[in-house]
Amino acid sequence: GAWIVSFSITIIVSLIALSTVASTASSGPSKNVSNGSDIDLAALLAFKAQLSDPLGILAGNWTTGTPFCRWVPLGLAACPYLQLLSLRENQFEDIFPSWLGKLTNLNTISLGWNYFDAAPIPTALSNLTMLNTLELARCNLTGAIPQDIAQLTKLSYLRLSTNQLTGPIPASLGNLSSLAYLILDENMLDGSVPATVANMNSLTVVFISENRLQGEFFNFLSMFSNCRYLSLLYIGSNYFTGRLPNYIGNLSSTLQEFSAYGNRLAGELPATISNLTNIEVLDLSENQLHGTIPESITEMENLHVLDLSGNSLAGSIPTNIVMLKNLLNLFLQSNEFSSSIPKDIGNLTKLEHLILSYNQLSSTVPPGLFHLDSLIKLDLSQNFLSGALPVDIGYLKQINIMDLSANRFSGSIPDSIGELQILSYLNLSVNEFHDSIPDSFGNLATLQTLDISHNSIFGTIPKYLANFTTLVSLNLSFNKLHGQIPEGGVFANITLQYLVGNSGLCGAARLGFPPCQTTSPKRNGHMLKYLLPTIIIVVGVVACCLYVMIRKKANHQNIFAGMADLISHELLSYHELLRATDDFSDDNMLGFGSFGKVFRGQLSNGMVVAIKVIHQHLEHAMRSFDTECHVLRMARHRNLIKILNTCSNLYFRALVLQYMPKGSLEALLHSDQGKQLGFLERLDIMLDVSMAMEYLHHEHYEVVLHCDLKPSNVLFDDDMTAHVADFGIARLLLGDDNSMISASMPGTVGYMAPEYGTLGKASRKSDVFSYGIMLLEVFTAKRPTDAMFVGELNIRQWVQQAFPAELVHVVDCQLLQDGSSSSSSNMHGFLVPVFELGLLCSADSPEQRMAMSDVVVTLKKIRKDYVKLMATTGSVVQQ
Ligand SMILES: *[C@@H]1O[C@H](CO)[C@@H](O)[C@H](O)[C@H]1NC(C)=O
Ligand SMILES: *[C@@H]1O[C@H](CO)[C@@H](O)[C@H](O)[C@H]1NC(C)=O
Ligand SMILES: *[C@@H]1O[C@H](CO)[C@@H](O)[C@H](O)[C@H]1NC(C)=O
Ligand SMILES: *[C@@H]1O[C@H](CO)[C@@H](O)[C@H](O)[C@H]1NC(C)=O
Ligand SMILES: *[C@@H]1O[C@H](CO)[C@@H](O)[C@H](O)[C@H]1NC(C)=O
Ligand SMILES: *[C@@H]1O[C@H](CO)[C@@H](O)[C@H](O)[C@H]1NC(C)=O
Ligand SMILES: *[C@@H]1O[C@H](CO)[C@@H](O)[C@H](O)[C@H]1NC(C)=O
Ligand SMILES: *[C@@H]1O[C@H](CO)[C@@H](O)[C@H](O)[C@H]1NC(C)=O
Ligand SMILES: *[C@@H]1O[C@H](CO)[C@@H](O)[C@H](O)[C@H]1NC(C)=O
Ligand SMILES: *[C@@H]1O[C@H](CO)[C@@H](O)[C@H](O)[C@H]1NC(C)=O
Repeated sequence: GAWIVSFSITIIVSLIALSTVASTASSGPSKNVSNGSDIDLAALLAFKAQLSDPLGILAGNWTTGTPFCRWVPLGLAACPYLQLLSLRENQFEDIFPSWLGKLTNLNTISLGWNYFDAAPIPTALSNLTMLNTLELARCNLTGAIPQDIAQLTKLSYLRLSTNQLTGPIPASLGNLSSLAYLILDENMLDGSVPATVANMNSLTVVFISENRLQGEFFNFLSMFSNCRYLSLLYIGSNYFTGRLPNYIGNLSSTLQEFSAYGNRLAGELPATISNLTNIEVLDLSENQLHGTIPESITEMENLHVLDLSGNSLAGSIPTNIVMLKNLLNLFLQSNEFSSSIPKDIGNLTKLEHLILSYNQLSSTVPPGLFHLDSLIKLDLSQNFLSGALPVDIGYLKQINIMDLSANRFSGSIPDSIGELQILSYLNLSVNEFHDSIPDSFGNLATLQTLDISHNSIFGTIPKYLANFTTLVSLNLSFNKLHGQIPEGGVFANITLQYLVGNSGLCGAARLGFPPCQTTSPKRNGHMLKYLLPTIIIVVGVVACCLYVMIRKKANHQNIFAGMADLISHELLSYHELLRATDDFSDDNMLGFGSFGKVFRGQLSNGMVVAIKVIHQHLEHAMRSFDTECHVLRMARHRNLIKILNTCSNLYFRALVLQYMPKGSLEALLHSDQGKQLGFLERLDIMLDVSMAMEYLHHEHYEVVLHCDLKPSNVLFDDDMTAHVADFGIARLLLGDDNSMISASMPGTVGYMAPEYGTLGKASRKSDVFSYGIMLLEVFTAKRPTDAMFVGELNIRQWVQQAFPAELVHVVDCQLLQDGSSSSSSNMHGFLVPVFELGLLCSADSPEQRMAMSDVVVTLKKIRKDYVKLMATTGSVVQQ
């Protein structure tokens, strides 16, 4: 993060004139304004000598409370002997006092944090050759830094931060050989840093972050090799490029803080970085570093803050990182770290902020972590961490923010969580927690946000949550909660999305939940006495039968399920995939699409999988790959291809998928074998597809658009159950940014909705369009890209023209020939609703298309009626 300079040492009103004090200076009745004659200058200067910050003495609140003095008193211009002027942190407005250039005895000017009108730095300031301190932070300055500033050869402190300065840093600055503080952050300076900086060998503090500076980092750094006093170097949020050179370790041994966040630094972290033995703050976040953290980092014993977040660092977090005993903040989020959290992490006893989110960390959390009693913020979200939370969690007495979401934590939420009495943010969502909310939650009265959604938590919603006055955000969705929704407090404004997915809730009529039944518990108990034994016996018998049936049936399916779970908990290496696919040999290629190739592979445990390798050039896809995959891996439905695992490094991204041995609907439909597909079989395939789509559109906790639904993306397993493939590729490619239109957008001509094809507007309704076209294709056996569809005529219009009377001319003739005449004439009556559904779904206007959930309902009804009719007319029901 950014670094905020804080000078908050003294509040002494100071306006000092050595000799003459202009009578015009006091232009109003402020109680606190000094007219100068009452200030003991000697005392002030003595005080100043005690302060290391040369500006400490200058800070003041001249007009706080009574902002009568809106302009800098002009009378000051008549004080030629004035040496020190500070009007810092007041509310002066109007124009910047350019007449200051006449007060040639000034050695200190500090005018920061006022409200001046926009203006360039007055050139006259260059005449003030006695100046050693020039502080003009947040003075609304525009234009370039004047070359002539180099005439101020006594300058040791130059601060122009937080203005709107443009242009380059002038090369002439190199002549300021006494300059110790060069503070130019938060401007719009561009170009490269001039080589003359190398001459300023008194530099101690350099802040040039938040500009538009560029250049090879390697060159930039070499300029500072003579700066033996360099202590703070902040260059974050610029455009520096290139690698971290080995000699970074040769920088001044006095360097205490180095921050280069938000540049374009690449390559690996050199092991020599550990030579910076005095460094306390190291921030290289938001760059493009890769490789592993060098083991030598454990030698940087003085580190307080280590921020390497937002890079592509991988491998495991060095176990010896726990030797950095002075660490207060450890930020490693948004990288590709794998393996487990260092087991002795509890040795970092001073740790206050620990953020490891958005990595691929697995295994359980070392118990010692929960003994870090100084920890204020703990974020382990978006990893693959598992296991139950230990009772020890109650030791995190200082914890304020805890995010454990999107992992695989299980078990019950420990009672001891109630001991975290200053917790304000708790997120346990998207895990596998079960049991009820512990009673001790009642002690967490300082909570502002509580999210336990997407777990298997059961029981009732505790009433005391309505009494939590600070609680403003509560998410209980997708659990197994039942009973009354409490009233008042946070529940007064809660919306449906935070309660949805709990089957047994009642009350809150405003949100459409059923009213609660008020039953007499006594009577229930009475009835239970008789009912309970019966229920137990029935359940027991059923369970036994099921057990025997399951044992007898598909054993290989169980083995598969077991294996699938096993591999999804491991991390697959690139080398494993290379071996599994014979170096991605063409013999193993199953197909390819716009985003990459798909290979068949056999993992070392014998399991056969499909491996989808994502194209490299889809760069913007890459950053969010793992996050998105994490979301997609949670999409679980009988008719979706299961994403078993992912494998990614800087240059390679792959999805490991359930292997579908029976090929695609596209292949089946347009082959000889497809000619044997009966009406019911086709209906069942499309029903399977619709249920998968309904799940993605309406039941998954985040809407997942498919954007490329077509028969080649519907695959069959051994039992010929249809599975939708490639869902979420759109997300992988585009992240959340739906507005992005690019060549890499998925989609296939013929199946793409008009508004998606032309405007790039993807929505659930554009998926419905593709589904509709596919439905027409399945029952006509004509591809939408068939040569017969030329000019204005497309598959939809062709069917529309035949609808409803002439449907026999468009339906796949195989369907009409199949079976007895009675069966086909019966079937004919069902063609109408099926084609009607296809036409409705593929309507030109998105508003006219049905929702996927309605499609499922309609298809189920058609199927039911058809099967009933077949049964009564004695026809052989296929399947
Ligand atoms: C300014 O005046 C107020 C009210 O008289 C007083 O409370 C405060 O201490 C004064 N501040 C300084 C810095 O003298
Ligand atoms: C300046 O301050 C002195 C001492 O408080 C006072 O006697 C004098 O009148 C003031 N002058 C003006 C112009 O306010
Ligand atoms: C000056 O006053 C402002 C506004 O009241 C306040 O935010 C600021 O902290 C004060 N500065 C100092 C140095 O006390
Ligand atoms: C900067 O100057 C512009 C116009 O000159 C003015 O509107 C704006 O309020 C100033 N900004 C500050 C922070 O004083
Ligand atoms: C700087 O000082 C010189 C000599 O005293 C004077 O001639 C010149 O006008 C001054 N420049 C400005 C911009 O005031
Ligand atoms: C820097 O100083 C040298 C000699 O002192 C002078 O010749 C040169 O012009 C100065 N450079 C700038 C840019 O002012
Ligand atoms: C710098 O680090 C490297 C490798 O970590 C080491 O070999 C070398 O001796 C170190 N140099 C100094 C001056 O400490
Ligand atoms: C962590 O601390 C324990 C106890 O002080 C010590 O035995 C262990 O070696 C430490 N671990 C590391 C990696 O330094
Ligand atoms: C909530 O607060 C009310 C009023 O203070 C109190 O009567 C009630 O018992 C509290 N409910 C719970 C569950 O603590
Ligand atoms: C509910 O919303 C209203 C209006 O937005 C707001 O005034 C009120 O404070 C909210 N109540 C709670 C408990 O958040």
